[in-house]
Amino acid sequence: MQTIIITGGRTLQGAICPETAKNSVLPLLAASLLCQGTVRLRAVPRLADVETSIALLRAVGAGVQRCGSELLLCAEAPLCGQIPAPLSGAMRSSVFYLAPLLCRVGSVRLPLPGGCRLGPRPVDIHLAGLAALGAAVELEGDAVTLRAPGGLHGADFALRLPSVGATLTLMMAACCAVGTTVLRGAACEPEVADTARFLSQCGAQIQGAGTPTLVIQGAEMLHGTAYTPMPDRIAAATYAAALACAGGEVSIARCRPAYYAAFLSFLQRCGVEIFFGADSVTLRRDPAVPLHGAQTLCANAWPAFATDTAPLAAAVLLCADAPSEIYDALFARRFACAAGFAAMGAACSEQGRRLQMQGGAQLHGAEVSAPDLRGGAALLLAALAAEGTTLLHDAGHLARGYADLPGQLAALGADVR
Ligand code: EPU
Repeated sequence: MQTIIITGGRTLQGAICPETAKNSVLPLLAASLLCQGTVRLRAVPRLADVETSIALLRAVGAGVQRCGSELLLCAEAPLCGQIPAPLSGAMRSSVFYLAPLLCRVGSVRLPLPGGCRLGPRPVDIHLAGLAALGAAVELEGDAVTLRAPGGLHGADFALRLPSVGATLTLMMAACCAVGTTVLRGAACEPEVADTARFLSQCGAQIQGAGTPTLVIQGAEMLHGTAYTPMPDRIAAATYAAALACAGGEVSIARCRPAYYAAFLSFLQRCGVEIFFGADSVTLRRDPAVPLHGAQTLCANAWPAFATDTAPLAAAVLLCADAPSEIYDALFARRFACAAGFAAMGAACSEQGRRLQMQGGAQLHGAEVSAPDLRGGAALLLAALAAEGTTLLHDAGHLARGYADLPGQLAALGADVR
């Protein structure tokens, strides 16, 4: 059990650059299996999910070498389509290996993927889409096996909802299917567009990335490339929320404000001053002046307020001057961090997708546990605004998505160990 110790009451000062986006790096690692020749990924953060992905790539026969912050990936040797259960169960992103291994090997067996427990997280859209492209799908117990010994073929497929993961799966599959694939109702998140940029640089033909309709011409095999993934907009929002909780003045560089515009505009409504640059923002808040509450937020697919930032917003609103409410349209159990907020003295109630906060909390240190990645980050942020010391247990969840959140906040002046 890993524990982070936070003593609240310090303001933050300084500048910070978010790492590259976890949710781009993870699909890109899987997509490298579609390439002949070496893929060089730059600025790859040291995250637990990245380490799990490297172990998974090696387990299926790919070569992975870390040179400083770069990863060199080579998938030219014959691959194996059996994904080991411990690796699959360690992260949600193991589902990204379905399509590339199906294309490369002709069959793939995936034990149920793990990841944050945010409510039910089925993979039916991934499977229905792959079936439309010609895969035979067999469910047995806790694993799914897909077979397409003759390869996949193009299809016209409408996603029943704009799932980020399913869009990525089907985009990868379509790149190596024979003929044209049209994906309708696709996710438009920036990480989907970033993955499409990577695939295009590897020779894929993808039109409409970042829009709900993607048209993809299949090719036999892609080629290697060197690529720098986009910055992590959720990490950027996390630093912005930390400033809002603790007060002070912080610049967040090398991340376009447009990537987290909904979150920045929420912070402005709360009373945080924000100065915008082309790819940076400077945020300022006087901790003696309470933030404005009376906010009603609804987390949904891009470009709406991001679900991953919903617990972060909740941490900001606990001490605001009026009650607020957040509803998460994507995940049924986004606010498991509410128990930790309550232990720190906040009046809040969680009813499934909805979190209500009374505001006006005088937070105090407490012993709490991270329920998941973003919920754990939210508890850390709330502790910055609390009087006294908080022990945040189960902090291993944070290492799945942040390279070193305690160290980064400490560098800005927080008392976090
Ligand atoms: N869904 C289905 N069937 C499917 C796929 C999804 O019903 O086949 C449902 C899910 O159960 C959920 C909703 O659709 O209720 C949205 O899920 P989506 O597939 O869009 O999410 P994901 O691909 O599982 C990615 C990110 C999440 C982020 C969501 C939404 C990665 C590795 N994960 O998950 O990030 O919250 O998109 O933007 O890219 C995180 O970083 O902490 C994180 C959870």
